Amino acid sequence: MEATKQLTVNSICKITKSNGMLGNKKYWEIYQGDALQVLKLLPEDKFNCVITSPPYYWLRDYKVDGQIGLEESVEGYVNNIADVMDEVLRVLSPDGILFLNLGDTYYSGKGKSHGIDKKSSKRRFGLRAVDKSGGLGIGLKQKTLIGVPWRVALEMIGRGWVLRSSIIWYRKYALPESVQDRPRRSYENIFMFVKNREYYFNRQYLEDSEQEDMWTIVARAKAANSLPTAPFPDELVQRCLDIGCPPEGAVLDPFAGSGTTLRVALQTGRSAVGIEIHQEFCKYMINDLNKLF
Ligand SMILES: C[S@@+](CC[C@H](N)C(=O)[O-])C[C@H]1O[C@@H](n2cnc3c(N)ncnc32)[C@H](O)[C@@H]1O
Repeated sequence: MEATKQLTVNSICKITKSNGMLGNKKYWEIYQGDALQVLKLLPEDKFNCVITSPPYYWLRDYKVDGQIGLEESVEGYVNNIADVMDEVLRVLSPDGILFLNLGDTYYSGKGKSHGIDKKSSKRRFGLRAVDKSGGLGIGLKQKTLIGVPWRVALEMIGRGWVLRSSIIWYRKYALPESVQDRPRRSYENIFMFVKNREYYFNRQYLEDSEQEDMWTIVARAKAANSLPTAPFPDELVQRCLDIGCPPEGAVLDPFAGSGTTLRVALQTGRSAVGIEIHQEFCKYMINDLNKLF
């Protein structure tokens, strides 16, 4: 079953909500809109677990007004993500967990365009902020790794989050970078944040998998229908749910993309809510979730 309705938050932001009931009180909801605006509509303490991967800094252009990721300054990006996470903190249950996947970006400062990535039309930037000379206004030297994930994590700690673990996701078989003067990147961060000192956590799954804060999980090349969202591998979502979400809990992904978090949550008996700014990605998710049951 699917219902769709328009919610107007303010004069410039219209949000479309679609939802389905799956029996046994299990439900899904998708909101098309800006994560920060939509989150403000949701009640506090609603979710047991949040699993999400926001757009990385200057990695892709999703070509949607209001998208996060193409800020002129690192500080602007960090603040935009942290603002969304402020609202996530509010809607997370007192014993809930957030798994936040972030990747880093290099500052090139070459002063010329990054060029065209033939594999993805979504990467046709003009001159990216990270290619402009001037050190991004914070004195960065050419070729430095910016440290974006940790800048976000530190900002969030300053705003009240408790960082419990910095998990390394070793992206086995990921396409190698073509660099010659440094190690090629093969991992990303998954920060495990909580709201309070006591929270739901099932250690057994880590012990069974014999992996603690270093997770070897094969990266997924693309979503089934080739949506350019850099989709989560199902296994990554599954592991977060196994350790951080009660069996019938409610799960949120405020940057839902192709909806991997929602699909895996629903397939394992949970309820799921997704927020996504891109209309086509929302249509894909609605179609995909309607096929599930
Ligand atoms: C890295 S992708 C998420 C991929 C997802 N984990 C999956 O499995 O497909 C980030 C998503 O955030 C969306 N996005 C960008 N800015 C947004 C905003 N302000 N509010 C909500 N979604 C946004 C993009 O359209 C993109 O689909």
